[in-house]
Amino acid sequence: MAVGPLARAGPGERATRSPRGLRPREPEDVLGTPERSQGTEGEEVRTVVRPEEIESIPLASLSEPFGPFLPHFVGEALRCGGQVRLAVVDGVVRGLYLDHPADFEGSVFAGDRAVATLLARTGGAAAVFSEFDLAPDSEPFSIFRCALPTEIGGHRFQHPVRVAGAADRPAIVELMRSVYGHVDARWVETMPEPAELAFVVDGSEGLAGVAWANRIGAAGRLHSLTVRPRHRRSGVGSDLLFARLAWLGTAGARSAISEISARSPGSIAIAERGGMRPAGRIFRSARPL
Ligand SMILES: CC(C)(COP(=O)(O)OP(=O)(O)OC[C@H]1O[C@@H](n2cnc3c(N)ncnc32)[C@H](O)[C@@H]1OP(=O)(O)O)[C@@H](O)C(=O)NCCC(=O)NCCS
Repeated sequence: MAVGPLARAGPGERATRSPRGLRPREPEDVLGTPERSQGTEGEEVRTVVRPEEIESIPLASLSEPFGPFLPHFVGEALRCGGQVRLAVVDGVVRGLYLDHPADFEGSVFAGDRAVATLLARTGGAAAVFSEFDLAPDSEPFSIFRCALPTEIGGHRFQHPVRVAGAADRPAIVELMRSVYGHVDARWVETMPEPAELAFVVDGSEGLAGVAWANRIGAAGRLHSLTVRPRHRRSGVGSDLLFARLAWLGTAGARSAISEISARSPGSIAIAERGGMRPAGRIFRSARPL
């Protein structure tokens, strides 16, 4: 959760469906349109309005770390009323842009900076995540990675962690709103899903913490680790990390990634405790002009 996903007032683990926002947007800002816009010669930006439109496109080649997750991200963005665009250069798809309407942050997946810049400019989001730093003062995020299954025997759980069910949706939204401000409730409308689970720790009043794990085949991704301030530094974040790694390993994932801001020492410490190590970078940049 969460490209959006994003010292940052957002989650230390980047959320694809990041709840961090700068301004509310009007609905017409965020609905996809079937129109096509032309870049320079041979370049075209196409708006995707249905998940089926990307089924035959080899999106995985657009990003090594995120490739397996891109169809899932597209489906989620469209489900939540977000924007999805493809950059087509000389007839070949070279880049993907997506956002969620409540995120105010978009994500670009492209093999080269020029295509990433072209796509980032077309979006309505105030900031974009990309493997390229697209504007001055970008915020770097490390992509932490570990192999799975991982040995979690050395971790002593301090809190019961459970998989969230549909009945937990209001409490998850309440927790995330209390930490991040506005959060789109559509984010959790379809949870739990086989490919993506939320894990929670109960607190005395409401949830103490929540975090997501997404598995696509052998690829796992952790996102949106959030602990209520009064429950911090009591091991909730660590327990949520180890529980998610354990589930991913059992479910068949062979690796896990998590994008973590360089400005989030807590999330970095937790990931390192879990055996995750930096294996790449992305940047959160202001939308390039
Ligand atoms: C990051 C976050 C998930 C940590 O959750 P948590 O439940 O407090 O984490 P844990 O108690 O498991 O902490 C494990 C270890 O991580 C490190 N750690 C946690 N928070 C830290 C912080 N703010 N600064 C530095 N190290 C930190 C410590 O080494 C800690 O071990 P210790 O308490 O024995 O010293 C929580 O602070 C959170 O939800 N933040 C969301 C908002 C956010 O990311 N803000 C970033 C602001 S810079």
